[in-house]
Amino acid sequence: MDTMQEMQEWVESLERRARTRLGNGRVADYIPALAQRRADQFGIALCTNNGDVYCAGEAQESFSIQSIAKALLLTLALRVHGDTLWTRVGRNPSGMPFNSLTQLEVEGGKPRNPFINAGAIAVTDRLVSAFATPSKHLRDVARRLSANPTIHIDERVQASEWRHRDRNAAMAYLMKAFGHLDNDVDAVLQAYFSCCALSMSCVDLARAFNFLAAGGYARPLGEQFIAPDLSRRINSLLFTCGMYDAAGDFAYRAGLPAKSGVGGGIIAIVPGCFSVCAWSPALDECGNSVAAQYVLELLADDMGHGAGALLTTAPASGVAPWWPRPPSSRASR
Ligand code: DON
Repeated sequence: MDTMQEMQEWVESLERRARTRLGNGRVADYIPALAQRRADQFGIALCTNNGDVYCAGEAQESFSIQSIAKALLLTLALRVHGDTLWTRVGRNPSGMPFNSLTQLEVEGGKPRNPFINAGAIAVTDRLVSAFATPSKHLRDVARRLSANPTIHIDERVQASEWRHRDRNAAMAYLMKAFGHLDNDVDAVLQAYFSCCALSMSCVDLARAFNFLAAGGYARPLGEQFIAPDLSRRINSLLFTCGMYDAAGDFAYRAGLPAKSGVGGGIIAIVPGCFSVCAWSPALDECGNSVAAQYVLELLADDMGHGAGALLTTAPASGVAPWWPRPPSSRASR
């Protein structure tokens, strides 16, 4: 059996085992347009640093990327503004729900990190200052990174978020009152919601975020998208803050830099090797997909590596130095 076939069988075995967790959790309904998804949907796609994609389940089905957009927003804002971005947003775990207002008030309107809602809104404000149409810019970057020109913003989801924007608007106004937002609150919120409402599949997302596995090199663009040290730093933030107040738990279980969204998707990075996206709409109480977290835990477990080993990384691009053990030698769980 050749290695590509082994990889494909491995991804299929991950899918089979993860399906045992379907039926746990709840589909997000605080954005009504998201509530229409079936809880038993599941997909996974893995993109190696040499550009090969392996997938199983509903990996081609598009879903609302929601907070996964925050990782791309941060990347673009750091490309434009560099380290000055950190005057507007911190780099520490929040230990609070992603839509918490409490910390913001106590800490002078500076959000703890770019992955909670307030932090992503502050980052979006920096992009509104830099680009005439920031959400179109982000959409175009997503299209190019995933080599899929059909990626679009789901206007129904965007409108639903706008109609139910009360908490996010409260955060934005609070930051504006503290002088941490330069632009009109409505313009910033519209841009933020549009980016969260991007509709992408597991395959699109695994491809789009591969640059974080490849030391900043984006194979679909044929260029160094961000510097290797910036890629390493973004992975560190994903590791410590990407799963909200469950970041510590997820780090313990899977040991991978990751970013979740309330649409049920999670992207995770194995630096030097591959990017992976898993999707299933039913969420736990922290807003993270139950089955997607579980499959990433299985994946990490199969690889037999700890978090520390995964974060000290290898080549900027090229053939993955790591390869899984053949499916037959792994215990099924
Ligand atoms: O602003 C919101 O609430 C959503 N657009 C994004 C939240 C989200 O995805 C949190 N993720 N787990």
